Amino acid sequence: MKPLRLGVFASGRGSNFAAILAAIDGRRLNASVDVLISNDPAAGALETARARGVRAETVSSAGFDSRDAFVSRLTEVLRESGAGFIALAGYMKRVPPEVVALYPGRIVNIHPALLPAFGGKGMYGRHVHEAVIRQGCKVTGVTVHLVDEQYDRGPILAQRCVPVLPGDTAETLAGRVLETEHSLYPEVLQAFAEGRVRIRGGIAFIE
Ligand code: GAR
Repeated sequence: MKPLRLGVFASGRGSNFAAILAAIDGRRLNASVDVLISNDPAAGALETARARGVRAETVSSAGFDSRDAFVSRLTEVLRESGAGFIALAGYMKRVPPEVVALYPGRIVNIHPALLPAFGGKGMYGRHVHEAVIRQGCKVTGVTVHLVDEQYDRGPILAQRCVPVLPGDTAETLAGRVLETEHSLYPEVLQAFAEGRVRIRGGIAFIE
């Protein structure tokens, strides 16, 4: 099997990106990261990429006169990198539909809750954990899903539960959820690398 050639999109600190790199180093993931793209020039993920010699690019809609110019720069960076698969790792922007159309069934996202609960617009990062605690949930978790044109709505690939403990704050819960994210995401990417992902009737299965 050929290595999965990844473009990783990240908006922040990039601990999931680091976990992907660690899984590649540890030979648990047969992949290369060909480019790291962020919408935020201050993202820690860009630093991690540069330190590792991974091409790091800031591509933000704010930096372009038109939406078309932004989308064409994004697709150009991806094409130049040779990435054939996109992993969103804490990317807080919507992927333009033009990019989704270029990578059908080849864009995945990790979400810090059990979708379809606690997903959708505005539900990202600590907002998710605050809502889970406010609701009194006893269990939350991690979802990895395919990306389509809608926020957090594509076919679910894998989910793993994480307990919500008495006295949890958004920070303590986020930390526990992140540990599970860091193991689950490379596992799902490896399933793609091994060609073990099937979609039937809009439902995704890992064999
Ligand atoms: C992660 O918890 C990820 O699941 C979440 O942002 C965090 C990024 O952390 N993503 C979303 O909320 C997307 N809707 P990281 O920058 O340390 O990987």
